Amino acid sequence: MSWCFYYYPTLFIIAFSFCISQTLAAKISQTHNSLPFIWPLPAKFTFGNDSLSVDPSLSLIGNAAASAIVRTAFDRYKGIVFRNGNSFGGFLRTVTVDYDVTKLNVVVNSKSEELQLGVDESYNLFVSKDTTGSGKVTIEANTVFGALRGLETFSQLCSFDYSTKTVQIDKAPWSIRDKPRFPYRGLMLDTSRHYLPVDVIKQIIESMSYAKLNVLHWHIIDDQSFPLEVPTYPKLWKGSYSKWERYTVEDAYEIVNFSKMRGINVMAEVDVPGHAKSWGTGYPDLWPSPSCRMPLDVSKKFTFDVLSGILTDMRKIFPFELFHLGGDEVHTGCWTNTSHVNKWLENLNMTANDAYEHFVLRAQNMALSKNWSPVNWEETFNTFPTKLHPRTVVHNWLGPGVCPRVVAKGLRCIFSNQGVWYLDHLDVPWDEVYNAEPLEGIHKASEQKLVLGGEVCMWGETADTSDVQQTIWPRAAAAAERLWSERQSTSTGKSDSTALLRLQYFRCLLNRRGVPAAPVTNFYGRTAPIGPGSCFDQ
Ligand SMILES: *[C@@H]1O[C@H](CO)[C@@H](O)[C@H](O)[C@H]1NC(C)=O
Ligand SMILES: *[C@@H]1O[C@H](CO)[C@@H](O)[C@H](O)[C@H]1NC(C)=O
Ligand SMILES: *[C@@H]1O[C@H](CO)[C@@H](O)[C@H](O)[C@H]1NC(C)=O
Ligand SMILES: *[C@@H]1O[C@H](CO)[C@@H](O)[C@H](O)[C@H]1NC(C)=O
Repeated sequence: MSWCFYYYPTLFIIAFSFCISQTLAAKISQTHNSLPFIWPLPAKFTFGNDSLSVDPSLSLIGNAAASAIVRTAFDRYKGIVFRNGNSFGGFLRTVTVDYDVTKLNVVVNSKSEELQLGVDESYNLFVSKDTTGSGKVTIEANTVFGALRGLETFSQLCSFDYSTKTVQIDKAPWSIRDKPRFPYRGLMLDTSRHYLPVDVIKQIIESMSYAKLNVLHWHIIDDQSFPLEVPTYPKLWKGSYSKWERYTVEDAYEIVNFSKMRGINVMAEVDVPGHAKSWGTGYPDLWPSPSCRMPLDVSKKFTFDVLSGILTDMRKIFPFELFHLGGDEVHTGCWTNTSHVNKWLENLNMTANDAYEHFVLRAQNMALSKNWSPVNWEETFNTFPTKLHPRTVVHNWLGPGVCPRVVAKGLRCIFSNQGVWYLDHLDVPWDEVYNAEPLEGIHKASEQKLVLGGEVCMWGETADTSDVQQTIWPRAAAAAERLWSERQSTSTGKSDSTALLRLQYFRCLLNRRGVPAAPVTNFYGRTAPIGPGSCFDQ
């Protein structure tokens, strides 16, 4: 053990920080031959000792080359792998190199390119040298989306060797048989508290694909702003912060398309009846009264007409089978103390809680009639568990122990316990994110199946373009491995575990790919490094 000294001249203090005798960077270099630096860790793999060089004009062969999704992904990954001025074989290179790997063979069994919940994302990836000494790389998958996951893994096996100036695959031969543990591996983005430009959302989606996340939960609208165009009710986006902070219908289509090309579903959210104050900027009738503005006025037919119009317009854009209807934090004071709403409650002999249930169930029926499965925040389940439609997916957030109760009632669940998976909670360190287990307390296999997976939530109160990516990464990656990899291989996230070495490595991989992922071991998420040092040590 040794002591590390950090000297802060401006503060005239010397802070002593206890640290392990070897830097992480040194440990990572040392273990590079014995550890697989693939994030998230594949389900099954073996590797050897060989190094194979990869041709910068690598070509795609196999039946998947006919798929635009696979072809464009192959081109993206080529851009990532051959970044070091090496795209044309190194423009200063004088000798020709005989590359070991010149072709990437991608074989896909199914022709269907429909992306839905539970789509087969499994793949096998084999890297070997045949008897003639030439390299062979094959990805086999049941769907193009499995092929995308395999391409991501392939890109992580490749690294630039600075002495030969070639891209190499180390530790060959590789045999990887991989599949996700959960079908739903999400990241929530909040574009109401702060507007995020379309290009920034795309960068986030791109970075999600590096960690094999597969659902973007788009919390588009909330109390603070209504940025989305709704053609049927064109005044709604008057609730945007400004005329520049808006999403057109075309923007939304583009985000869905961009996601699909990366095997990522977009689950949109319309959070009702609370969290909808911004709707009334365009249509003040949606407020109980001008002085009491939320929840939405439950007593008016107009409220449900508008909701129905929004859902009809959104159904055209969002093909994913899940749609989030919110339903959290419904404070009914404005219903009981606004006279026309209160009279309506009395006429129907309803309490405010009955009206909350009435609203949520009516919204569920609208979503169901459009062949969406409704997702609701857990308060709906906590308040009227037996009334929710059987197709409901309950979205946990308030704390631990909710999914066990949800699946015991036969409903499906998404795990997002705010104590560990809310990324805006900056004091949650990477290992607490990593160790959170969606199946905690659920023992029956039939009930475990009802846990679709989990999601890390990037609430936007203090996150905009200036800091959103470094708040998401690297901690979202810790959850991504939890959701993808086998439970037993991820149960040891401690500060001294190999998971830390691999996550450090993945954070630096994100940085290399231009993603501004923050240091892993800072006490507060997203803070800058505290001094000079290797990326692998921060
Ligand atoms: C790698 O090489 C070392 C010695 O060079 C050998 O002991 C070891 O068994 C090899 N490992 C594999 C997986 O081939
Ligand atoms: C996405 O858009 C591109 C370009 O317009 C198009 O070629 C591609 O087929 C679209 N992909 C999907 C999955 O809709
Ligand atoms: C009505 O309820 C709202 C929300 O609880 C509260 O802010 C407001 O002060 C109440 N108004 C009256 C007149 O009681
Ligand atoms: C109103 O509801 C309460 C509680 O559900 C019930 O006891 C009562 O009989 C109802 N009154 C009328 C007039 O329906």
